[in-house]
Amino acid sequence: MTPTGPARDLDRVRLLAIETTCDETGAAILEGCRPPRLGVPTILSSVVASQVDLHVRFGGVVPEVAAREHVRQVIPTIDEALRQAGVGLAQLDAIAVATRPGLVGALIVGLTAAKSLALALDVPLVTFDHLEAHLYACQLAHPDREAYPCVGLVVSGGHTSLFACRGPLEAEPLGGTIDDAAGEAFDKVANLLGLGYPGGPGVERAARGGNPKAFAFPRAFLRDDRLDFSFSGLKTAVLYALKGQAARPEPLPPSPGRVADLAASFQEAVVDILVAKCTQALRVTGLRRLGVGGGVAANARFRERIASMAVDLGIELLIPPLALCTDNAAMGAIALPKLAAGQVADLDVDVQAGLVRPGRR
Ligand code: KG4
Ligand code: ZN
Repeated sequence: MTPTGPARDLDRVRLLAIETTCDETGAAILEGCRPPRLGVPTILSSVVASQVDLHVRFGGVVPEVAAREHVRQVIPTIDEALRQAGVGLAQLDAIAVATRPGLVGALIVGLTAAKSLALALDVPLVTFDHLEAHLYACQLAHPDREAYPCVGLVVSGGHTSLFACRGPLEAEPLGGTIDDAAGEAFDKVANLLGLGYPGGPGVERAARGGNPKAFAFPRAFLRDDRLDFSFSGLKTAVLYALKGQAARPEPLPPSPGRVADLAASFQEAVVDILVAKCTQALRVTGLRRLGVGGGVAANARFRERIASMAVDLGIELLIPPLALCTDNAAMGAIALPKLAAGQVADLDVDVQAGLVRPGRR
């Protein structure tokens, strides 16, 4: 990393965003206008180094393995993002980093890299919330539209949370999962059905050939006023449907047709729950716009159903393209409005690993 390149552009703000909350090392170069113009930032580059190959044999993310891999990947990923953007370190006006929620070791790697760069370049450090960033991806993906105020649903491997968002930095928690996240349920069910890791894409593929009505799986809290979710019972129901109540290993693997039916019925149950809770959140808040972010928002059946719900209710739906749904650093563009609002972090700022469950702060 060398501080080369032309001098800083005085009309524009360029920042490097770093994302290491879980198992993807992300770096992005983002450009925005200086206040008062602001506007929606532009993505000059976005690089993601995936660790999927390292975690696949464990069927899930191993935190220590993730942290060590971030150490290896963070500098090359930043270098690549700078190279692709054609930007030198000397042209950066700020360094942004996701500091919550996530795996503690993973978060510390990103924050340490960000602090070091901010100190060395003498530029501000801006921290951001990974969930708020997932929702900001809706704005980033639709620069010509107003993304806020909205109901925001973050549906990923670690989170299933609903927010009432008055603006990018004003996300009021409405509810969230009390056990597994939706993506986590996809991953666990994929594991049961032998559909690989990460599970979402495998379940989606298998479900295409299956009957979504073949199994009547439970839909938790559907008729409950709370805007909370629960997916662990659904996952157990798939286990029982696969192996019987005693959950003994099957003598023979299930037929492809049965796997497809189980996948389709499971996926439909998750989608029913997500659509129902979004509908409820829109009704309760009176908001007329829905923004969705996170890896599960890449699911084609979910996208189809949530889009038709939006048409039926006459509300506006913002949902990013797939690359901005799964973890990436471009969504760290949320740091630009933060920077403009003067929300700069001290160099002794720490990570906040744990998810503070919405409504239970
Ligand atoms: O947002 P993300 O990349 O990371 C977290 O913040 O957790 O989400 C990853 C999750 C995984 O659980 C993965 O199985 C799920 O998103 N996912 C999907 C699909 N693509 C990724 N779930 C359902 N259908 C998909 N097509
Ligand atoms: Zn995420």
